[in-house]
Amino acid sequence: MANTILVGAQWGDEGKGKIIDVLTEQADIVVRYAGGNNAGHTVYIGRQKYVLHLVPSGILRKNKLCVIGNGVVVDPLGLVSEIEGLKKIGVKVSPKNFLLSETAHVVFPYHRELDAQREVIKGKNKIGTTKRGIGPAYGDKAARVGLRVNDLVDPVRLEAKLSARIKENNIVLKSLGAKPLSFKKVFADYNAAGKYLKPFVTNTVVLLHNAIRNQADILFEGAQGTFLDIDHGTYPFVTSSNTTAGGACTGSGVPPHRMDRVVGVMKAYTTRVGEGPLPTENSEISDLLHGMGREFGATTGRARRCGWFDSVATRHATMVNGIDDLAITNLDGLDTVETIKVCVAYRHGRKQYDFVPNDAEILAQCVPVYVEFEGWRTPTDKARTFKDLPIKAREYLKAIAGLTDANLFIASIGPGRDQTIFV
Ligand code: IMP
Repeated sequence: MANTILVGAQWGDEGKGKIIDVLTEQADIVVRYAGGNNAGHTVYIGRQKYVLHLVPSGILRKNKLCVIGNGVVVDPLGLVSEIEGLKKIGVKVSPKNFLLSETAHVVFPYHRELDAQREVIKGKNKIGTTKRGIGPAYGDKAARVGLRVNDLVDPVRLEAKLSARIKENNIVLKSLGAKPLSFKKVFADYNAAGKYLKPFVTNTVVLLHNAIRNQADILFEGAQGTFLDIDHGTYPFVTSSNTTAGGACTGSGVPPHRMDRVVGVMKAYTTRVGEGPLPTENSEISDLLHGMGREFGATTGRARRCGWFDSVATRHATMVNGIDDLAITNLDGLDTVETIKVCVAYRHGRKQYDFVPNDAEILAQCVPVYVEFEGWRTPTDKARTFKDLPIKAREYLKAIAGLTDANLFIASIGPGRDQTIFV
């Protein structure tokens, strides 16, 4: 398979979990490189539903090594309960198939509390975060006051560093009217999690380089999506990591010239959770999808905002990620639509954009320019080859891939592994 970076080409929730699971069959190692337990990757195997937040989806296949890279922020209590949850349903997790970078940063309760408090202060300008403490944890990393996994697994260092951080954060929390944290309680919980996780902790950079030397095929599992990237997204309505392809290098320590291919995952329409501009958002498609019971978030359960397919955004995603191949998911979500719209440009006053403007305020005022496609109005979920799809669905897929400027590689017509068409 060669070394492949998989990214979301929209605002997250593109169905990456399923595509990662499918592509993992051909990989030796799966590496998560950014984000934290704000992500929610849903995978169905038969009737069993798995929602993974931190552990790479590769864990669901035998003989695959899953790695959490240095670019991830890890909530150790969340990770322990995720591992335990997987074990309970019969998934084997041991240091033989799961490893954690010693330099990944750790999310603490003060990060979660600050995340929540800052949202309250922002009022109507809130970001709509997952409240998992992601922003404050990456903030501490950049401010060079974060604790890393190698601090977590060393009780002496954990005690010294954590007590200093809790002292400082309690001053801030009190000033915001929030309850201060008990060092004793946080230390006890985190020390126990550190002990549990210690056998999984290693230098993942050296591990990955040795694997590459031994011709291993690595899949780099992106979380969130291009427009939630801290640099390339709709700032400030973004997450706090580099979710784009470049993040796979910095978040794993594998250099760009060792990467062979970028796969972009996108829905056949557009969704977003949280606040921020979404040019093609409209109630027609939102009502339809929510009415079908679709588009509720895997991490927070929030109803996702929905819109028509936005090729200005996905073409921009191809530009910043270097997407070669596309996996288009949720095609079946459009099975009943009479006329499907696709955004091909944005209009802002007299100006027309064929890329996503950097200014979120301008983007929020942009009006989509649409072209229309006649819907196929036939169920597609039973199709198993490209030819099984109605001709209008094939034309639609080819058109949105063409507008996105990348190759149509996979069409997904349902959550099951067998509902995956390699084009
Ligand atoms: P945070 O990552 O929790 O700080 O949230 C920042 C923004 O990213 C919010 O709009 C979230 O809804 C969004 N976000 C974070 N993780 C995901 C995800 O996995 N899927 C979709 N949106 C996400």
